Amino acid sequence: MTKLVTYNSLDWSVHPPYLHPPYKSTVKRSPSRHLVPLAQSLSELTGPVYGQGEIHPLDNDLTKNAVKTAEPIGERIIVTGQLLDDRGKPIPNALIEVWQANSCGRYMHKVDQHDAPLDPNFHGAGRTLTDQNGVYRFNTIRPGAYPWGNHSNAWRPAHIHFSVFGVNFLQRLVTQMYFPGDPLLPLDPIYNGIPDEDARKQLISVYDHNITQPEWALGFRFNIVVCGPRQTPFE
Ligand SMILES: [Fe+2]
Repeated sequence: MTKLVTYNSLDWSVHPPYLHPPYKSTVKRSPSRHLVPLAQSLSELTGPVYGQGEIHPLDNDLTKNAVKTAEPIGERIIVTGQLLDDRGKPIPNALIEVWQANSCGRYMHKVDQHDAPLDPNFHGAGRTLTDQNGVYRFNTIRPGAYPWGNHSNAWRPAHIHFSVFGVNFLQRLVTQMYFPGDPLLPLDPIYNGIPDEDARKQLISVYDHNITQPEWALGFRFNIVVCGPRQTPFE
C-alpha cells in the first residue's frame, strides 16, 4: 500500500529567512513574491527508497574514499550522531550526505579559486545511511576556514555541509555543522542568519572524548533533529 506523507511549513523562528541582507547572496536569490504552493503528485509523495546496496563501504570514510597516492593531509576527525524526530525517536535508514572543504579551506570544485592547495587525495564528499538506531558516522579531515567575498575580510567558520533525505526527494533538509570554540562564528552572516540563539547553537558539534579514537582521530557529536521544538535549523 502506498504510504503518503504530509509536509509542514518551516518554523521561521528557528530557520534562517530566505532574505538576510548581511548574507549577500540571499538578496538576489530570495523570492520577491509570495510562494505558490504546488499540489504534490503521487510520484513526489512516494519513493525513492534507498537501499544499502547503493552505498559503497568507503562512502562514509573521506580519509580513504579519494585516496590516489597517499592519505589526505590534515587532522583526521570522526563525526557521528543520531538522526531524530520530534519525539526523540531515531530515524533509521535515512540517506545523509556531506561535503566540505579540505584542511586548507578549499573545495575540489572549479568555482572555488581560493589560493590554497588542493589535496589530490581528498574530494571532500561522503554519504551513508543511518543504522537502526538512527546513527550515522563519518571519518574525515577537519575542514579549514575559507574566504568567501561576502564582505571585507569575510571568512567562513570551518563547517561541514549536511543533507538529509527523508522517504522521498521532497523531504530533503540541508544544514551545516560547525566546530566548538570557533572564533569566526560570531562574525558569520550565514550562522547568524538563524534568528534564535539556542537554534544556532544546535549547529555546533560537541567534542566527545568517548568518540575520540586513541592514536587516530578526535571525535565530534552532531545530532540532527528533523522537526519539532528542538529541530535543527536548515538552510
Ligand atoms: Fe561551505
